[in-house]
Amino acid sequence: MISKNLEKAINVQIMNEEHSSRIYMAMASWCETNALPGAAEWLYKQSDEERMHMLKFVKYLNDRGGYAILSKLDKPTPDFKNLHEIFEQVLKHEQFVTSEIHKLYELAMNEKDYSTENFLQWYISEQVEEESVANAILDKLKLVGNDKAGMFHIDKELAAQAAAKVIDTI
Ligand code: FEO
Repeated sequence: MISKNLEKAINVQIMNEEHSSRIYMAMASWCETNALPGAAEWLYKQSDEERMHMLKFVKYLNDRGGYAILSKLDKPTPDFKNLHEIFEQVLKHEQFVTSEIHKLYELAMNEKDYSTENFLQWYISEQVEEESVANAILDKLKLVGNDKAGMFHIDKELAAQAAAKVIDTI
């Protein structure tokens, strides 16, 4: 049976993952209406992936005798300047999620909840991957600056990445 403390902390993380999903959907919608169809696909996929991250926590918490509950979420901003700004925000957001996962892991360690520690290992690896992917895209965006041909190329590349991405199911 999971402790009340961990149950509360995991419910906060369920909120964080669902919020991530909505933030990325808002970004996808902006890209879709600003001639960036590849970036839109990439962000829609990312939004789906965050929902899966949320669901994984929901199932785990309920399996361990806790109760997963959903929270009220802040409205994601619909206003962006450009794709560069979007990916800066993606990276910043993923860094925030990483720190939240690490805090959760620390709590599980302090409580000697080995099952939760084991469960969280997947998220720890996933965050390394997510930060690295966001960083790589941001580097390319910095390189092309305002060059329209370069931006067109990046958008195509994001479309290919989105098409190749397989989202785990649980
Ligand atoms: Fe589920 Fe991208 O953090």
